[in-house]
Amino acid sequence: MAFQPKAVLVTGGAGFIGSNFINHFMAANPDCRVVNLDLLTYAGNLKNLTGVEKNPNYRFVKGDVCDGPLVAGILAGERIDALLHFAAESHVDRSITGPEIFVRTNVLGTQILLEESRRHWQSGLVAGFRYLQVSTDEVYGSLGETGFFTEETPLAANSPYSASKAGADLLVRAYFETFGMPTLNTRCSNNYGPYHFPEKLIPLMIHNILAKRPLPVYGDGRNVRDWLHVKDHSIAIETVLKTGRLGRVYNIGGNNEWQNIDIVHLVCDLLDKKLGRTAGESRGLITFVKDRPGHDRRYAIDAGRMRNELGWEPSYTFERGIDETIDWYLANQQWVADVTSGGYREYYEKQYGDR
Ligand code: NAD
Ligand code: DAU
Repeated sequence: MAFQPKAVLVTGGAGFIGSNFINHFMAANPDCRVVNLDLLTYAGNLKNLTGVEKNPNYRFVKGDVCDGPLVAGILAGERIDALLHFAAESHVDRSITGPEIFVRTNVLGTQILLEESRRHWQSGLVAGFRYLQVSTDEVYGSLGETGFFTEETPLAANSPYSASKAGADLLVRAYFETFGMPTLNTRCSNNYGPYHFPEKLIPLMIHNILAKRPLPVYGDGRNVRDWLHVKDHSIAIETVLKTGRLGRVYNIGGNNEWQNIDIVHLVCDLLDKKLGRTAGESRGLITFVKDRPGHDRRYAIDAGRMRNELGWEPSYTFERGIDETIDWYLANQQWVADVTSGGYREYYEKQYGDR
């Protein structure tokens, strides 16, 4: 029988994927209470959640996943029966210039959440409990021209970001093996869609095309990523939470491989059409720049376990997803202006004050 949570704790729910997940999950599970614990770093924005903020089943807590007593208080006080851990430092380039915060947030933060979850689960306060770790295909390292990452592919992280995510995944495994903790671990490919912070490839390109600024493409632009719409990722996580086998890893991907340069061309051409610019104009902004150090060449996910065991498949075609995403950015330029200027902090102060 499927697990139906009554009260979930979502960490990092003000970020790109966390907020899309909360918006989806609250619509699909109107009787479930959702507590969003987020530190509101540069990547967290409560404006992503205006659709749920007045819902009596929603509560926002500004706080750090490394704050054990705070986490323990929420778990017990709200009788949480599922913890979904999205919060992270998520940007590879930032991990190259400043790895320490990645280890603190991604590794230590996960260990603290696991430990507080273990105590809460063992206290017997709630009848059933699940801990779900949201992770990434980057833990597997890089593929050559062919092949796919399966759940059995050995971990071979290459950036400080992916190393911190791999470390966290191993802690999740350890809590399952050592304590029998009811854990689940998802590993997803590159997401795209609304509320994506404009430091990441697709929203950065949209933003720079609109401003007629250079489009920085790393190296030869031939690195490959497997793109999945964030709504499909949200549904996949809900599916794993409710029907996944405990202790198991689930790869999630779009079966949608693109070389970076082809994505950049596509976004340029679609925007030229939508903006009424001359065909090919935006491609003229492309600037090849120095490669990212340790840049993984190719990611591609084998999502066979999700499909065969849990019946999940992506619903978006890339054609539809990228078109809708570009339209979303065109309609939400104030959102981009706010996150690039830090203006969304004022929104927080107005809504919640300093608590
Ligand atoms: P994001 O950077 O957009 O959001 C991260 C959120 O975590 C922000 O709201 C931030 O304020 C919050 N946060 C950071 N440190 C915190 C702390 N110490 N305590 C509480 N909250 C904190 O990230 P995202 O792209 O939404 O990624 C979410 C998760 O999904 C991450 O774990 C990431 O590794 C994973 N993931 C991302 C992708 C992708 O393509 N973006 C793909 C696969 C997996
Ligand atoms: O694969 C999942 C991962 O996808 C997640 O775990 C990460 O949190 C998420 O940030 C993302 O990592 P990537 O490094 O793949 O995403 P990013 O958008 O930074 O880069 C995508 C590709 O585009 C990558 O090959 C680097 C390249 N790139 C990126 C930027 C920002 C450029 O060529 N130019 C750019 O300006």
